[in-house]
Amino acid sequence: MFELERFVEDCKAAIASDPTHKSVQEIVARAVSEPGGVLKVLGEPEKGEVQKLYCTEKLTIINVIWAPRMTIMPHNHNMWAVIGVYGGREDNIFWRRVADDPTGRIEAAGARSLGSGEATPLGPDIIHSVTNPTAKLTSAIHVYGGDFFEEERSEWEPEGLTEQTYDVEKNMRLFEEANSFARQQQ
Ligand SMILES: [Fe+2]
Repeated sequence: MFELERFVEDCKAAIASDPTHKSVQEIVARAVSEPGGVLKVLGEPEKGEVQKLYCTEKLTIINVIWAPRMTIMPHNHNMWAVIGVYGGREDNIFWRRVADDPTGRIEAAGARSLGSGEATPLGPDIIHSVTNPTAKLTSAIHVYGGDFFEEERSEWEPEGLTEQTYDVEKNMRLFEEANSFARQQQ
């Protein structure tokens, strides 16, 4: 059965013995393989938001609730990540940089749709955008191999796909906008 303290301790022990994402991947996959157990501990999601569960220089664990049909623009993390979905669905588009483009433009390179109970690792160079394709909230545990909130990183505006500095506050506002949009649709 999922226990938050145990989960955090397991992730800390995993990165202490293996700085890659491999052991954390196993821990997240095991946790979300019983979505009901995670839901019981983290609670029924109420709105789109990012809940910080644990954060140090080496490890960040967040509970991400995607608002209905919300999309977050392409961004990188500059650190490995593991995503495990325990409710709803996350559609990921993976992007790669266009070679020698002075504006840092990207092009789509692949996709992975994650349903409840599924987990995937993302390497440190990954660029992805995420959509919740459902009309309900989607819930996921995200684990990062560093300080997710302090790392300098990039985002790509969705129309021209040119590179910009990642703006944490703008992205947090996106959750609020998506929540009020979802309320209007009810
Ligand atoms: Fe991300």
